[in-house]
Order: sequence, then structure tokens, then C-alpha cells
Amino acid sequence: MTMRRPFARLTGLGVAVPEQVVTNAWFEERLDTNDAWIVERTGIRERRHAGPDQSVTDLARIASMGALAQAGRSPLDLDSIVLGTATPDRLLPSTACDLQAVLGANHAAAFDVSAACPGFLYAMTVAEGLIASGQSERSLILGAEKLTCITDFEDRSTAILFGDGAGAAVLERTEPSGDRPRGILSTFIGSDGRLADLLYRPGGGAAHPISHAVVDDRSHFLKMQGREVFKAAVRSMADACDEAIQRAGITADQIDLLVPHQANIRIIEATAKHAGMPMDRVMVNVDRYGNTSSASIPIALDEALQQGRIGPDSLVLLVAFGAGFTWASAVIRWG
Ligand code: UT7
Repeated sequence: MTMRRPFARLTGLGVAVPEQVVTNAWFEERLDTNDAWIVERTGIRERRHAGPDQSVTDLARIASMGALAQAGRSPLDLDSIVLGTATPDRLLPSTACDLQAVLGANHAAAFDVSAACPGFLYAMTVAEGLIASGQSERSLILGAEKLTCITDFEDRSTAILFGDGAGAAVLERTEPSGDRPRGILSTFIGSDGRLADLLYRPGGGAAHPISHAVVDDRSHFLKMQGREVFKAAVRSMADACDEAIQRAGITADQIDLLVPHQANIRIIEATAKHAGMPMDRVMVNVDRYGNTSSASIPIALDEALQQGRIGPDSLVLLVAFGAGFTWASAVIRWG
């Protein structure tokens, strides 16, 4: 299974976050909460909120332009766009199609992937498969969200957690070469739909279309049983790390940097501990962006690159968990 890899490598990365910074103090003024609780229980100090005129497509466009510029490609070079999101701008058509239109990526097949927080890693897995099967040469993958649109700002247990943002990467066909080929060495995706009701958005879809009743009982907003989700996240992210490492044919001590989904510092620390990674080899920026769902991995990855924590030949482990439940992981040899 790992023999022929890598099929694909990341040639460009771009991100976009809204300008508006919302600190914990903002919530102290509105809810029965406080900075000390939020920092201690989540590690979050601030997050970004998009304005009413800023759509998921807007954020995705900025991230895409950055990724394409870094890859030295034009939108017309893309033959697929795979966009992970839990907050599409419209239920029809896909946000990927809206993005295709604003980019002018007229040669691409575009579609969304609904996998919640691991959406970027699911998109990467799908795009890698398109490349491996010969259907795509060059794909744009994204995690793009406006979580604040489905956040209940009267619910202190969820309101403080989420932020908005987008990340994009260009994925291109590569041929395995040499002892240390660069590119995606492994991916792993999994899910358990039996646990869906621990983290979900009851209203707004076909089962409970938007109506006055749905809005009145606030069921168009995300609901979460935090403690149960926390336990499942720790368990699943630990297993997913093991799978990606094993499928890449490496050992944990070879990993240069762990870039986990940024939901909660305590989940990140537990995942790192399981993987045997000291925190100085773990990327953390949940303190400044909160949980941006599918955008969190590319936003953290981009910051790690800016800080010089990833360079040519670095082995990077990515891992995420979210609603569904879904989980995913990947090992990449950078460059
Ligand atoms: O993106 C992937 C999916 N999401 C996640 O990974 C999130 C996973 N879950 C979590 O991160 C944590 O469960 C939370 C941060 C959401 C909550 O932390 P916790 O330590 O699990 O708290 P809890 O839900 O067990 O609540 C403990 C107490 C409760 O009060 P009582 O019942 O003990 O009196 C809550 O009502 O903390 C209370 N509480 C708050 N207090 C102050 C809940 N939210 C707040 C708040 N401020 N914002």
C-alpha cells in the first residue's frame, strides 16, 4: 500500500483569516464566563470573526490565490478543486463551484467534501486519490469556514470556541524517486456516524428545513456535548496518529513536527503525549484562532512554515477529529 507513494506533493499553501480579533473579554461582557476559565479549559485567548459581508468563498479565494502564487500556478492550471467545509455559503451549489467561478478556474471539476474538522485532510485524501487514479494532475484542496454563522452566541459552552478562516493548498502529481521522496507518504480517514448527535446542527437541512419553529428553538445552531466529544477526540486522534505513521512506514521519533487540529490545548497535549512528541515538536496556535474547523490544519501548517519549523525533507504528521464523528491523519515529507 505504501510502496508506490508518493503520488502527490504540496507545492503551495495559502491562508486567510478575517481582520476582526475577538478576545475572551468580549465574551465576558456578554456571557457568564471569564478569561481564566476559557484559557484553562481550552487554551483559547482570541479568535477571528468574519464580518457580515465576508463569505466562505471570499476567505477561500484569498487563501487560494496565496497557494497558487506559491506554487507558481494560475487558476487555469487546476483540474480539480476539493473543498472541505461545514459551513458552505449556500446549500446549493457547492462552495467549491462558487470558488471556481471567482477564481476563473474554468478547467477544474469542483465539489465540496462534508467531513467537519478533518475536512482539509479528507479533501487531501480525495485529491490524492484523483491524482493516483490518473484523473487529476493538479488539484486545489481547501478547508474553509465561517463557523460564526452556525454558532449560538447565547451558549457559553460553544460560543467561545470557534473562529473563522480558510486554508488552501495546491497538490500536484509527483513520481517516487530516491530514498526520501517528497510528498504525501500516507493518509488515513475514518468515521463513526453512530455518535453524530454529540456534535451536530439539527436544523437547516432537508430533515428540518429552516422555518420559524427551527429558528425559534435555535436548532439552526451547532450543538455539542463537549465532554463526550473531548474524550472521543483524544482517543481517535491518538489512533489516527498511529495509523498514519504505520502506513508511512516510519516511526514516531522520525516526525519533525506534529500539526494537530486546533480545538483545545488539552486535546493537543494528550495527542502529543500519546504520539511521544514533546510539545516543542507540536504546532499550537489555538490560542490566537480558536477552533476554525477544517481551516485549522492549513492555518497551523502555514504558521509553522513562516516560523521555519518545517523545511525541505521535514516529516510532518497532521491529525484531526470532528463532527460525524470523523477523524483523519496524514504524513508528509515536505518539499
Ligand atoms: O472540533 C472538534 C470538535 N470539538 C472539540 O474537540 C471540543 C471538545 N470539547 C472541549 O474542548 C471541552 O469539552 C469544552 C472546552 C467544550 C468544555 O470543557 P470541559 O472541561 O469539558 O467542561 P464541561 O463541559 O465538563 O463543563 C464544566 C463546567 C460546567 O459547569 P458545572 O456543570 O460543572 O457547574 C459548565 O457549565 O464548566 C461550565 N462551563 C463554563 N464555565 C465558564 C461551560 N462553558 C463555560 C464557559 N465559561 N464558557
